[in-house]
Amino acid sequence: MLICPGINMLILPGVCDNPLMQAIDALLTRRSARALTEPAPDSGALELMFSAAARAPDHGRLRPWRFVVVRGAARARLGALLAEQLRRTHPQSTEEVLQRARLKALRAPLIIVVAAHCDPAVKIPVIEQTLSAGAAAHAMMLAALALGFNAMWKTGAAAYDATVKQALGLEAADAIVGFLYFGTESGERAPAARTEWRDRVRELSA
Ligand SMILES: Cc1cc2nc3c(=O)[nH]c(=O)nc-3n(C[C@H](O)[C@H](O)[C@H](O)COP(=O)(O)O)c2cc1C
Repeated sequence: MLICPGINMLILPGVCDNPLMQAIDALLTRRSARALTEPAPDSGALELMFSAAARAPDHGRLRPWRFVVVRGAARARLGALLAEQLRRTHPQSTEEVLQRARLKALRAPLIIVVAAHCDPAVKIPVIEQTLSAGAAAHAMMLAALALGFNAMWKTGAAAYDATVKQALGLEAADAIVGFLYFGTESGERAPAARTEWRDRVRELSA
Protein backbone atom coordinates (compact mmCIF):
# COMPACT_ATOMS: atom_id res chain seq x y z
CA MET A 1 0.00 0.00 0.00
CA LEU A 2 1.40 3.38 -0.98
CA ILE A 3 0.41 6.94 -0.41
CA CYS A 4 0.70 8.77 -3.71
CA PRO A 5 2.78 11.85 -2.98
CA GLY A 6 1.22 15.16 -3.93
CA ILE A 7 -2.39 14.09 -3.82
CA ASN A 8 -2.27 12.14 -0.57
CA MET A 9 -4.21 9.39 -2.28
CA LEU A 10 -4.15 5.86 -1.03
CA ILE A 11 -2.94 3.58 -3.79
CA LEU A 12 -4.14 -0.01 -3.83
CA PRO A 13 -1.47 -2.72 -3.99
CA GLY A 14 -0.50 -3.59 -7.52
CA VAL A 15 -1.21 -0.18 -8.96
CA CYS A 16 1.97 1.60 -8.10
CA ASP A 17 4.37 -1.27 -7.48
CA ASN A 18 6.90 -0.04 -10.01
CA PRO A 19 9.60 2.27 -8.74
CA LEU A 20 8.24 5.78 -8.42
CA MET A 21 9.08 7.91 -11.42
CA GLN A 22 9.94 11.57 -11.32
CA ALA A 23 7.62 13.71 -13.42
CA ILE A 24 10.58 15.04 -15.40
CA ASP A 25 11.65 11.48 -16.24
CA ALA A 26 8.18 10.64 -17.50
CA LEU A 27 8.12 13.79 -19.62
CA LEU A 28 11.60 13.26 -21.08
CA THR A 29 11.43 9.52 -21.70
CA ARG A 30 7.86 9.10 -22.96
CA ARG A 31 7.64 7.58 -26.38
CA SER A 32 5.01 5.49 -28.06
CA ALA A 33 4.92 1.79 -27.34
CA ARG A 34 5.72 -0.47 -30.29
CA ALA A 35 3.65 -3.39 -29.01
CA LEU A 36 1.33 -3.64 -26.03
CA THR A 37 0.17 -6.67 -24.14
CA GLU A 38 -1.46 -7.69 -20.84
CA PRO A 39 -1.58 -6.58 -18.13
CA ALA A 40 -3.61 -3.50 -18.87
CA PRO A 41 -3.88 -0.75 -16.27
CA ASP A 42 -6.17 -2.14 -13.58
CA SER A 43 -9.03 -0.24 -11.99
CA GLY A 44 -6.75 1.50 -9.47
CA ALA A 45 -4.36 2.60 -12.21
CA LEU A 46 -7.29 3.72 -14.36
CA GLU A 47 -8.60 5.83 -11.53
CA LEU A 48 -5.25 7.62 -11.30
CA MET A 49 -5.08 8.02 -15.08
CA PHE A 50 -8.54 9.62 -15.17
CA SER A 51 -7.68 11.78 -12.17
CA ALA A 52 -4.56 12.97 -14.03
CA ALA A 53 -6.61 13.61 -17.19
CA ALA A 54 -9.13 15.62 -15.22
CA ARG A 55 -6.33 17.91 -14.04
CA ALA A 56 -5.71 19.04 -17.62
CA PRO A 57 -5.73 22.80 -18.09
CA ASP A 58 -9.36 23.68 -18.72
CA HIS A 59 -10.34 27.23 -19.62
CA GLY A 60 -13.69 28.03 -18.03
CA ARG A 61 -13.82 24.74 -16.11
CA LEU A 62 -15.97 23.25 -18.83
CA ARG A 63 -14.53 19.74 -18.45
CA PRO A 64 -14.95 19.33 -22.21
CA TRP A 65 -13.56 15.79 -22.27
CA ARG A 66 -15.38 12.54 -22.81
CA PHE A 67 -13.77 9.12 -22.37
CA VAL A 68 -14.99 5.78 -23.69
CA VAL A 69 -13.30 2.74 -22.15
CA VAL A 70 -13.00 -0.24 -24.48
CA ARG A 71 -11.57 -3.49 -23.11
CA GLY A 72 -12.03 -7.23 -23.21
CA ALA A 73 -14.57 -8.50 -25.71
CA ALA A 74 -15.76 -4.95 -26.45
CA ARG A 75 -12.55 -4.44 -28.42
CA ALA A 76 -13.95 -6.70 -31.14
CA ARG A 77 -16.95 -4.38 -31.33
CA LEU A 78 -14.62 -1.41 -31.84
CA GLY A 79 -12.71 -3.43 -34.46
CA ALA A 80 -15.99 -4.11 -36.29
CA LEU A 81 -16.74 -0.38 -36.25
CA LEU A 82 -13.32 0.42 -37.71
CA ALA A 83 -13.79 -2.17 -40.47
CA GLU A 84 -17.34 -1.05 -41.19
CA GLN A 85 -16.17 2.57 -41.52
CA LEU A 86 -13.50 1.46 -43.96
CA ARG A 87 -15.97 -0.60 -46.00
CA ARG A 88 -18.41 2.31 -46.13
CA THR A 89 -15.81 4.86 -47.24
CA HIS A 90 -13.75 2.49 -49.41
CA PRO A 91 -16.19 -0.13 -50.74
CA GLN A 92 -13.43 -1.72 -52.82
CA SER A 93 -11.48 -2.76 -49.67
CA THR A 94 -10.51 -6.41 -49.73
CA GLU A 95 -11.42 -8.77 -46.88
CA GLU A 96 -7.72 -8.81 -45.93
CA VAL A 97 -7.67 -5.03 -45.53
CA LEU A 98 -10.90 -5.09 -43.52
CA GLN A 99 -9.51 -7.81 -41.29
CA ARG A 100 -6.43 -5.66 -40.61
CA ALA A 101 -8.76 -2.85 -39.51
CA ARG A 102 -10.63 -5.24 -37.19
CA LEU A 103 -7.38 -6.42 -35.62
CA LYS A 104 -6.28 -2.86 -34.83
CA ALA A 105 -8.62 -2.88 -31.87
CA LEU A 106 -6.92 -5.99 -30.51
CA ARG A 107 -3.40 -4.59 -30.51
CA ALA A 108 -3.66 -3.55 -26.87
CA PRO A 109 -5.67 -4.85 -23.93
CA LEU A 110 -7.25 -1.46 -23.23
CA ILE A 111 -8.33 1.39 -25.48
CA ILE A 112 -9.58 4.71 -24.23
CA VAL A 113 -11.28 6.92 -26.76
CA VAL A 114 -10.70 10.54 -25.78
CA ALA A 115 -13.08 13.08 -27.24
CA ALA A 116 -13.67 16.79 -26.91
CA HIS A 117 -17.28 17.70 -26.28
CA CYS A 118 -17.11 21.38 -27.15
CA ASP A 119 -19.77 23.96 -26.51
CA PRO A 120 -19.68 26.55 -29.32
CA ALA A 121 -22.13 28.74 -27.39
CA VAL A 122 -19.74 29.61 -24.56
CA LYS A 123 -17.16 32.35 -24.85
CA ILE A 124 -14.21 29.93 -24.58
CA PRO A 125 -13.13 29.22 -28.19
CA VAL A 126 -13.74 25.68 -29.43
CA ILE A 127 -10.03 25.27 -30.16
CA GLU A 128 -9.27 25.84 -26.48
CA GLN A 129 -11.83 23.23 -25.46
CA THR A 130 -10.34 20.79 -27.98
CA LEU A 131 -6.82 21.51 -26.73
CA SER A 132 -7.96 20.72 -23.21
CA ALA A 133 -9.03 17.24 -24.38
CA GLY A 134 -5.62 16.81 -26.04
CA ALA A 135 -3.93 17.82 -22.81
CA ALA A 136 -6.10 15.31 -20.94
CA ALA A 137 -5.03 12.57 -23.35
CA HIS A 138 -1.36 13.42 -22.84
CA ALA A 139 -1.78 13.48 -19.06
CA MET A 140 -3.41 10.08 -19.23
CA MET A 141 -0.51 8.64 -21.24
CA LEU A 142 2.06 10.09 -18.86
CA ALA A 143 0.18 8.77 -15.84
CA ALA A 144 0.14 5.31 -17.42
CA LEU A 145 3.88 5.53 -18.04
CA ALA A 146 4.53 6.62 -14.46
CA LEU A 147 2.52 3.61 -13.28
CA GLY A 148 4.63 1.17 -15.31
CA PHE A 149 2.48 0.88 -18.44
CA ASN A 150 2.80 2.47 -21.84
CA ALA A 151 0.59 3.69 -24.62
CA MET A 152 0.21 4.69 -28.24
CA TRP A 153 -1.96 7.52 -29.56
CA LYS A 154 -3.76 6.87 -32.83
CA THR A 155 -6.51 8.52 -34.81
CA GLY A 156 -7.15 7.75 -38.50
CA ALA A 157 -10.27 8.42 -40.57
CA ALA A 158 -12.54 6.60 -38.10
CA ALA A 159 -11.85 9.32 -35.54
CA TYR A 160 -13.61 11.82 -37.79
CA ASP A 161 -16.54 9.61 -38.71
CA ALA A 162 -19.96 10.58 -37.33
CA THR A 163 -21.28 6.98 -37.46
CA VAL A 164 -18.31 5.70 -35.45
CA LYS A 165 -18.74 8.47 -32.90
CA GLN A 166 -22.43 7.73 -32.46
CA ALA A 167 -21.78 3.99 -32.13
CA LEU A 168 -19.35 4.84 -29.32
CA GLY A 169 -22.03 6.86 -27.54
CA LEU A 170 -20.52 10.19 -28.55
CA GLU A 171 -22.23 12.99 -30.41
CA ALA A 172 -21.53 13.59 -34.09
CA ALA A 173 -20.20 17.06 -33.22
CA ASP A 174 -17.76 15.66 -30.63
CA ALA A 175 -14.14 15.54 -31.77
CA ILE A 176 -12.31 12.29 -31.11
CA VAL A 177 -8.82 13.52 -30.31
CA GLY A 178 -7.38 10.04 -29.94
CA PHE A 179 -7.79 6.32 -29.66
CA LEU A 180 -5.32 5.73 -26.82
CA TYR A 181 -4.03 2.17 -26.67
CA PHE A 182 -2.75 1.07 -23.25
CA GLY A 183 -1.01 -1.97 -21.88
CA THR A 184 2.35 -3.30 -20.86
CA GLU A 185 5.10 -2.81 -23.36
CA SER A 186 6.36 -6.13 -24.67
CA GLY A 187 10.01 -6.59 -25.52
CA GLU A 188 12.95 -4.39 -24.76
CA ARG A 189 12.05 -0.73 -24.36
CA ALA A 190 14.28 1.31 -26.67
CA PRO A 191 15.33 4.63 -25.19
CA ALA A 192 13.45 7.68 -26.41
CA ALA A 193 15.43 9.59 -29.00
CA ARG A 194 15.97 13.24 -28.24
CA THR A 195 13.86 15.50 -30.40
CA GLU A 196 15.49 18.68 -31.63
CA TRP A 197 13.57 21.73 -30.49
CA ARG A 198 16.03 24.64 -30.69
CA ASP A 199 15.11 25.44 -34.29
CA ARG A 200 11.48 25.84 -33.20
CA VAL A 201 12.20 28.42 -30.53
CA ARG A 202 12.82 32.08 -30.92
CA GLU A 203 12.95 34.82 -28.40
CA LEU A 204 11.11 38.05 -28.95
CA SER A 205 13.58 40.88 -28.89
CA ALA A 206 12.97 43.87 -26.68
C1 LIG B 1 -3.64 13.75 -32.36
C2 LIG B 1 -2.64 12.68 -32.76
C3 LIG B 1 -3.03 11.68 -33.62
C4 LIG B 1 -2.12 10.69 -34.02
N1 LIG B 1 -2.55 9.70 -34.86
C5 LIG B 1 -1.67 8.75 -35.25
C6 LIG B 1 -2.10 7.70 -36.11
O1 LIG B 1 -3.27 7.59 -36.46
N2 LIG B 1 -1.18 6.78 -36.49
C7 LIG B 1 0.13 6.87 -36.10
O2 LIG B 1 0.94 6.02 -36.49
N3 LIG B 1 0.56 7.85 -35.28
C8 LIG B 1 -0.31 8.78 -34.84
N4 LIG B 1 0.11 9.78 -34.00
C9 LIG B 1 1.53 9.89 -33.66
C10 LIG B 1 2.00 8.85 -32.66
O3 LIG B 1 1.11 8.75 -31.57
C11 LIG B 1 3.41 9.19 -32.11
O4 LIG B 1 3.35 10.31 -31.29
C12 LIG B 1 4.40 9.43 -33.20
O5 LIG B 1 4.51 8.29 -34.01
C13 LIG B 1 5.80 9.77 -32.64
O6 LIG B 1 6.27 8.72 -31.85
P1 LIG B 1 6.65 8.94 -30.31
O7 LIG B 1 5.37 9.20 -29.57
O8 LIG B 1 7.33 7.67 -29.92
O9 LIG B 1 7.57 10.12 -30.25
C14 LIG B 1 -0.79 10.74 -33.55
C15 LIG B 1 -0.41 11.74 -32.64
C16 LIG B 1 -1.32 12.70 -32.25
C17 LIG B 1 -0.90 13.78 -31.27
